[in-house]
Amino acid sequence: MTTISILLLAAAADAAGPVAETLGAAGRALTTVTDPDEAIRRAGEFSLVAIDTVEPPRTAVEVCAEIRRTPALAGVPVLCLARSDDVEERVRFLEAGADDVVGRPFDPRELEARIEGLLIRFQRSRDLAPLAGGEATITTRRHVLACFSPKGGTGTTTIAVNVATALAAHVPDQVAILDLDLSFGQVATHLNVKPRLTLSDLAADDLATREPDVLRTYAEKAEGGLHVFAAPATPEHARIVEPAHVEQILATAARAYRALVVDAGAALDERALAVLDRADAVILPVVPEVGALKALHGLLEFLTEQGAVPAKSTFVLNHLFARDLLAIRQIENAIASRVDAELPYDPALYLKAVNEGVPVVRGAPGSAPAKALIRVASLASGIDDLGEPAPETRRGGLLGGLRRRG
Ligand SMILES: Nc1ncnc2c1ncn2[C@@H]1O[C@H](COP(=O)(O)OP(=O)(O)O)[C@@H](O)[C@H]1O
Ligand SMILES: [Mg+2]
Repeated sequence: MTTISILLLAAAADAAGPVAETLGAAGRALTTVTDPDEAIRRAGEFSLVAIDTVEPPRTAVEVCAEIRRTPALAGVPVLCLARSDDVEERVRFLEAGADDVVGRPFDPRELEARIEGLLIRFQRSRDLAPLAGGEATITTRRHVLACFSPKGGTGTTTIAVNVATALAAHVPDQVAILDLDLSFGQVATHLNVKPRLTLSDLAADDLATREPDVLRTYAEKAEGGLHVFAAPATPEHARIVEPAHVEQILATAARAYRALVVDAGAALDERALAVLDRADAVILPVVPEVGALKALHGLLEFLTEQGAVPAKSTFVLNHLFARDLLAIRQIENAIASRVDAELPYDPALYLKAVNEGVPVVRGAPGSAPAKALIRVASLASGIDDLGEPAPETRRGGLLGGLRRRG
């Protein structure tokens, strides 16, 4: 067995305290440093980095963010120790990219359990990473991507359909899109498929919700190798689909496909919450309109209380209108978040795509909207060469190891 090595960054006064004692227990090799730069420089040599206190003017949150900005350190788990049990403080650490946060006062057994958990998670994701060759760059293991907006008409379906299509272009027949906009979802329309079976049929078939191979038979195939699980035909049918079905279907679909994209619609019910909870990444369209911004801000406040959704979010500013009346700074202030990507306005392209049932990334691949949508797919999935065609040889490698997760 290899020895677990832990790097602890702590201010001089805390360097030999109870945190160090717990981290150094059980045969682990502990190295304690007080200089943040030394911690960042050496982080890659250890199984885990723990950030406790940092001497001013720097802060623990900044050091955590700096480690997380360093691509070479992506495989090193970072555990942060908050000074209090305050939710705000813990959220700041998560937003800075901490893999886990322990509040104070802490019970050594809890700290012990969190370390174990982190080491297991990171070991598992290393085991799942694509094997040698490594042409496909996967910076994280984001596998289930959800697209949600607290308001309709913001581009949720457009983004979900294009992200899924871009992923499917890389690994045909290994990507599925689920339409969980349960009142008149439009994914099938956007992809020009006429579903014979829908998610309400799937929910009613217990075996199919549990067996990946059976589940796949409920998909309709769209052009380009994307599998489509269509929304129920009527709101009446949609009622059959319960939150527990959604959880079960997502778990099984995640085993049946290498990547899943969910159009979670615009209604924050128990089913949408189940999706947001399970998703590895959440794409949130942001439109430059005060009503929609307020709704999004409200959603983010709510989700922050619920868990870590904001930390796994990709904010996409969708220029839905011909004129920009709000500056990006005003928009970012309104949602208290940074915009990660922008979709340009286009008077005809998106509309033509829906009318013809051919997503922009397929129908107009060289266009600015298509390039922007591919960038969104890359940001959310963590795969950064989606714009390029996939050579045959890549098929096994890309997303390959992710298939059996969950
Ligand atoms: N950037 C944009 N510029 C112009 N039209 C857009 C843009 N994004 C989306 N649209 C159009 O807006 C409409 C609503 O988009 P849709 O994806 O169906 O939103 P939602 O799923 O959030 O209700 C569609 O007709 C779509 O073509
Ligand atoms: Mg929609």
